[in-house]
Amino acid sequence: MEYELNRDQIPAHVAIIMDGNGRWAKAKGLPRSAGHVEGTERAKQITEEATRLGVKFLTLYTFSTENWNRPDAEIGTIFDLLVTGLEDEVFMKNNVRFRVIGDFARLPKSVQKRTQECMDKTAGNTGTTMVVAISYSSRWELTQAMQKMARQAAEGQLKPEDITEEYISSQLQTSFMPDPDLLIRTGGEYRISNYLLWQCAYTEFYYCDTYWPDFHEEDLRKAIADFQHRQRRYGKTGEQVEKNEN
Ligand code: IPE
Ligand code: IPE
Ligand code: MG
Repeated sequence: MEYELNRDQIPAHVAIIMDGNGRWAKAKGLPRSAGHVEGTERAKQITEEATRLGVKFLTLYTFSTENWNRPDAEIGTIFDLLVTGLEDEVFMKNNVRFRVIGDFARLPKSVQKRTQECMDKTAGNTGTTMVVAISYSSRWELTQAMQKMARQAAEGQLKPEDITEEYISSQLQTSFMPDPDLLIRTGGEYRISNYLLWQCAYTEFYYCDTYWPDFHEEDLRKAIADFQHRQRRYGKTGEQVEKNEN
């Protein structure tokens, strides 16, 4: 099925909680790792589709702080796939800028090295920015930012009244991107699992039952079509919003 998309209303920032790899594999009688392998392929395809559609920022939740509690072998598989899955040539061909958010220092050295290389190589690209959240959680990010601000205050560089919403946003790791317009969660769970809590204050949420390894380009277009039919009111009445639009 094809979805009519309004090219003038493509969300600037799409965030995705890519969930359901393990259950996808289990349903097929395969090991969880097979779900992560297939999920990695989808991440690449969805990035390419986002590029074609003109999405400026795509943030993919790849490994959460809480995922450190998984078995070591599964963690190893996820990191191996990340390291081997990053293809500089594809990023360069598609003008994609690659970035990482999360607790970089906690990552294995091989992951730090490969992701840093990829960030450096693609830093000048001006198309879609693909952001991979690894060892990331929103409360971790907010805690870091609060500690940073407390240090600035202790050093006499920050007054209480300097702490505005804009200033807080500027102290987060995500300061280089706008807030998400659309958050997609696959895999049938209706929760946010510690992702971009501050940034999602007015984000439109889209949940689907499809497991991530089954989420294809047309599913992304369907989510964006759904987004385009919503009215974002930001606390105003629908009538106020319509008047401003016309
Ligand atoms: C998402 O799929 C990938 C990661 C969290 C790393 P899951 O591995 O959580 O898959 P389910 O939820 O167990 O099916
Ligand atoms: C969220 O998925 C994190 C990622 C997709 C990386 P989880 O599968 O870890 O989420 P919970 O624990 O079920 O909420
Ligand atoms: Mg899961």
